[in-house]
Amino acid sequence: MTHPGPIGVFDSGIGGLSIARRIRELLPHENLLYVADSVHAPYGEKAEHYIQQRADTITRFLIDNNAKAIVVACNTATVSAIRQLRADYTLPIIGVEPGIKPAALKSKSGVIGVLATSQTLKSESFNNLSRLFSESVCVEIQPCPGLVEQIEVLDLDSEKTQALVARYVAPLIEKGADHIVLGCTHYAFLAPVIRRIAGAGIQVVNTDIAVARETLRRLQNANRLSTSVAPGQMAFWSSAANELADQQIKRLWDGSVTINTMR
Ligand code: SIN
Repeated sequence: MTHPGPIGVFDSGIGGLSIARRIRELLPHENLLYVADSVHAPYGEKAEHYIQQRADTITRFLIDNNAKAIVVACNTATVSAIRQLRADYTLPIIGVEPGIKPAALKSKSGVIGVLATSQTLKSESFNNLSRLFSESVCVEIQPCPGLVEQIEVLDLDSEKTQALVARYVAPLIEKGADHIVLGCTHYAFLAPVIRRIAGAGIQVVNTDIAVARETLRRLQNANRLSTSVAPGQMAFWSSAANELADQQIKRLWDGSVTINTMR
């Protein structure tokens, strides 16, 4: 039996749109319901229980709106809350994970760098993942306070943003990293700046396509893929003021979207 509901996708803000656009490319007939919790962003420097509460509130909202699966399109929410969400709810719940594995497998220098939030980098799941590859590569970590805020206000290539990126990328290059892993879905929107600042020869690793493939696989396994041949619809719910939400969508999303405010 297929399921007529949308795929629910949520993030602390607009970073998860980088995942949603890959899902849209791979599953063009699926409806998407996106929640950007922009008023509460960034999650990355907040306490774990606060993030768990936000994740639970948004998950309930998505389920109340008939979501057939949920993509936690936020690294910080994944490491903080996905275990509890999976214990509490029965629908497929997909998370995101920094691409340490692909980076480690391809690294020639034997050093890879990870840009992420403090919460992600100190989490048990991140450290377990990192340890799995610590015999083959050295994993250098770099918390990036302030970067999510720049992306939320669409300040994607200003001097201030470039200076922050340079400050966070430089130590990784100095330590010999030849791959920089994006450990926060927001950073996908800074990938061009990160590439430019890191320079030729440094690969930027993003797992957005892998997450879309995993979403397809989980929907297939649960027999929940849409059978519609019509283009899927996108509904965007944001806790931010409408004007900002409007600008964010115009800048970061192609195609028609209904924009709603989440209180
Ligand atoms: C944040 O809200 O601080 C970052 C979200 C993420 O980790 O993907």
